[in-house]
Amino acid sequence: MNATMTKQVKKATLATVTANHKVSHNTYRLCVESEKDLIESQPGQFVSILCNKLVVRRPFSVAFAQGNYFEIIYKVRGEGTKYIENLKKGAQINFIGPLGSAFCIENKKSLLIGGGVGIGPMMFLAQRFKGQNIPYTFLAGFHSNINTGLAGIPEAVLITDDGTSGKKGSIVDYIKEYIEKDKVEKIYTCGPEPVMKKASVIAEEMDICIEVAIERFFACSVGVCMGCSIDTKDVENPETLIKKRICKHGPVFDGRTIIWE
Ligand SMILES: Cc1cc2nc3c(=O)[nH]c(=O)nc-3n(C[C@H](O)[C@H](O)[C@H](O)COP(=O)(O)OP(=O)(O)OC[C@H]3O[C@@H](n4cnc5c(N)ncnc54)[C@H](O)[C@@H]3O)c2cc1C
Ligand code: FES
Repeated sequence: MNATMTKQVKKATLATVTANHKVSHNTYRLCVESEKDLIESQPGQFVSILCNKLVVRRPFSVAFAQGNYFEIIYKVRGEGTKYIENLKKGAQINFIGPLGSAFCIENKKSLLIGGGVGIGPMMFLAQRFKGQNIPYTFLAGFHSNINTGLAGIPEAVLITDDGTSGKKGSIVDYIKEYIEKDKVEKIYTCGPEPVMKKASVIAEEMDICIEVAIERFFACSVGVCMGCSIDTKDVENPETLIKKRICKHGPVFDGRTIIWE
């Protein structure tokens, strides 16, 4: 089981904003039509958006793509995302993508675990699973019901930390239960790192494949600054430490190979 690398489109492309609306507390869905098709865009991959005059482009996972249309779900954090938040319908953006590795889709009973804005790539993956009749369970976790507007897949099991919507508790409390109940053979996850770490530990204990999409800070985005490096290990030979760069080798990795912080 390995993350899939597809054709990478590294040329900057223009796209027109068709919608940019709030889906929950400080989180938005940006919908755009690109000048060109988002060729072979696969769940797990990202686009890198030029945010006004900021030198460094900002990466965002593709939450849906079809032809020249695509969506991202983003949380407003700093200057770059504030710029995107203020884009009106008809505005143009400059992006590069799709970039990076994608989830490896297999015909296995799957558990999709998405936390916060990490549900973007999980929604895209769920769409693909639906289209290919691959059985899956989708756990969508949020802090509280002010965030649940993100849960765009009706079949998702909603979990909130404070119990204001759906099941109460942390999403990690439900992972083992659903693996056993739904006889899960493979896990896919994106979201806060403690969630992906816990899911990877459980997957290792239960001998289940797991793929994680890591959404950390990027600096150069092109593999030269080492700002996004992570420690990984060889599953067969865990003593061997291997440095990888998320922007070059990821963002999708075998969760059991990551040495989590
Ligand atoms: C492959 C990849 C995919 C991503 N996909 C998404 C996505 O689909 N939706 C989304 O909302 N975000 C996503 N991110 C994170 C997103 O790129 C950052 O939130 C964005 O770059 C922040 O830019 P900014 O200029 O608004 O904030 P900055 O001014 O750069 O930072 C503002 C504050 O936010 C914090 N911050 C910035 N980036 C992160 C981060 N990744 N995690 C935690 N804190 C951070 C900084 O420490 C700082 O305190 C992804 C990141 C990667 C690497
Ligand atoms: S962000 Fe510079 S090497 Fe990845």
